Amino acid sequence: MTDAIRLLETLERERSLSLEEYRALLDAWSPTLAAAAAEKAVAVRQRVYGNTVFVRGLIEVSNICKNDCLYCGIRKSNTACERYRLEKDDILVCCEEGYALGFRTFVMQGGEDGYFTDDRLCDIVRSIKERYPDCAVTLSMGERSRESYERLYEAGADRYLLRHETADAEHYARLHPSTLTLAERMRCLRDLKEIGFQTGCGFMVGSPYQTTEELAKDLKFVEEFQPAMCGIGPFIPHKDTPFKGYEAGTLEMTCFLLSLVRLIVPTVLLPSTTALGTIHPTGRELGILAGANVVMPNLSPLSVRKKYMLYDGKIATGDESAQSLQHLKERMASIGYRIVVDRGDVKR
Ligand code: 5AD
Repeated sequence: MTDAIRLLETLERERSLSLEEYRALLDAWSPTLAAAAAEKAVAVRQRVYGNTVFVRGLIEVSNICKNDCLYCGIRKSNTACERYRLEKDDILVCCEEGYALGFRTFVMQGGEDGYFTDDRLCDIVRSIKERYPDCAVTLSMGERSRESYERLYEAGADRYLLRHETADAEHYARLHPSTLTLAERMRCLRDLKEIGFQTGCGFMVGSPYQTTEELAKDLKFVEEFQPAMCGIGPFIPHKDTPFKGYEAGTLEMTCFLLSLVRLIVPTVLLPSTTALGTIHPTGRELGILAGANVVMPNLSPLSVRKKYMLYDGKIATGDESAQSLQHLKERMASIGYRIVVDRGDVKR
């Protein structure tokens, strides 16, 4: 325990540990160690961002996907999934509603749907930025060519989220079809960062075959990559995928990792994810109390929300909806945090 606390103190001071040290820290998880990590992470977050929580309006633009990731509910080979796509006008309606509610960042997220060519996506980005020049646009549309990312940046997109999923190539290969590789994922992430996007990576916690060895690599990668954002959420099985079974302790481990990532990259924009809210009734509060500073309520039309099922039980009504922002504000206020009307850019 004292050894682990010492590692935590080194991390707090140096923002860096060796791979072996990250692993030792993860293996030493205990409620006491996690509480110590959370206390340090909250202090760091407080210093950089105060008690503000940024909100993002999430627009799930399509559940059509050419990929077949083994863990994902909208994978191509899931024939039970009813497919949909939002077109430009639908998306603009979401933004209009979101803007009125106080959102100043719109996140367009979707499967890798060939409909969203560069021309179409750039046109949508330009229209959003024209109508809402005070808003940031985040894209989360998967792997694309460097040229495509360049065009999207030119069109005005500010941020891009592409979780690396796991920083271990072999583990990556066990979670994905052979058409997808960690090397290509990394190529995308490096291109995005070079082009100038506020770039987000991230990974699932409790995914099949994952041990603290893989998680240690994720932390080392975060340390090296220095992302502007990092999406960390629990793996939750989806009934129509080959991966069954939910790992006990995933909630606790996710919160611990949020704290460690906050210590590694103090300025990181760190969402308390929907998946965290799915596995525990106050999961999103727990994430904030572990060091997260972003929540991403759903702005997608109610009619499609139930179809964007990445995992079982994904919240599709209630507090998840952007429309109940008021309730979310109250919940955050009850733990001492303030949701703000702000683009919420990364602090440099
Ligand atoms: N459980 C949790 N997260 C998942 N994702 C995909 N499938 C699942 C699942 N079953 C995450 C991936 C992806 C993001 C959009 O959703 O990390 O990057």
